[in-house]
Amino acid sequence: MKGIITYPPNGGAKFLDIDIYERNEIKLKTLYVGVCGTDKEIVLGKLPFARPEHGNTLILGHEALAVIEDPGESKIFKKGDVVVPMVRRPGKCKICSIGRWDYCEDGDFVEAGIRGKNGFMREEFYDEERYLVKVNQKDLDILVLTEPLKNVMKMVEIFRFLSGKLPWYCDDSTYTCKNLYVFGTGPEGLLVGSVFKHMGFNVIAVNRHPPTESVSKFLEINGVDYLDTSKEKISERIKKFPMDFAIDAVGSMEILYSIAKNIKNNGIVLLFGTSGQLLNGNKEFITEIVDKNLLVAGSTDGSKQNYVEAVQFIEENGMRLGFNVLISQVFKFDELESMDLVKFLTEKRKDEIKKVIKFI
Ligand code: BGC
Ligand code: ZN
Ligand code: ZN
Repeated sequence: MKGIITYPPNGGAKFLDIDIYERNEIKLKTLYVGVCGTDKEIVLGKLPFARPEHGNTLILGHEALAVIEDPGESKIFKKGDVVVPMVRRPGKCKICSIGRWDYCEDGDFVEAGIRGKNGFMREEFYDEERYLVKVNQKDLDILVLTEPLKNVMKMVEIFRFLSGKLPWYCDDSTYTCKNLYVFGTGPEGLLVGSVFKHMGFNVIAVNRHPPTESVSKFLEINGVDYLDTSKEKISERIKKFPMDFAIDAVGSMEILYSIAKNIKNNGIVLLFGTSGQLLNGNKEFITEIVDKNLLVAGSTDGSKQNYVEAVQFIEENGMRLGFNVLISQVFKFDELESMDLVKFLTEKRKDEIKKVIKFI
């Protein structure tokens, strides 16, 4: 069987013949695997927590859609069912044992294609019933976005929890009077924009440059506004659209500082991005957070329920909301054999949002 492997923590990427040694009873064939910033960082050797499953190799890929080839003894799945395999697998802590391994307390978990467990960039794999989330619409290929979208569903869950501190909704009980600024217009930032707009927020996507054609198209379909900070300052835009809520999908301290400075009192800040750089100490930053009573929360991964919500969201709204635009390029798995894989996995093509590998 062919697959794509990397050598954490050093990175690199190779197309190889690999053996399957997994002993789980359900056999799956991979349909699609999406590529994201996490894969890029692993391949560049920049993700500190990337680690092999066995020896020094790791099969890449964590954003998958797969079809059941042999359900074994499973009572839930049958041959031909299409599923999304979960990325993270529990350890033994208390929180993992109650089903929320996305909040694992001691870090003793593994993540397929990222840390300690082989991923899905290969033709076949074996898995356990418990970590497979069934989809209903078998031919809906945008369901490959379920994995990145489950991160957004967890953000919705955290927002609902945090916003319970004070009555935070508008005086007609909706969120239509609230402005959400989303920093970063990669796939994750765009999915955030789509979901929170769908919840009623007025959403403004922020980046330092003009949007590409595909990004513009997606934002337009979703009714999300754009702020290009090379042309207009955030401090200008908030005069008309005060910042009630901010989600960062980049991870830069500069952005975080700008959020703290520009957001309203009692604002909510969710942090998802991790790829940023450090900022030299800025005293005002902490003062802003304290003095404004800000609610700041980090969010990573998502629960099985969040995957279920993501599947439901895509099946109900994905096509209407232009999720097909997010999949900007599709490559056949076999084509990759002759390509420079490191380049493929780390460099963006023109107008790329997300590229996807098609296996069958
Ligand atoms: C995945 C998460 C994972 C995180 C860190 C993201 O790309 O979507 O499920 O927890 O990387 O490893
Ligand atoms: Zn990803
Ligand atoms: Zn745990």
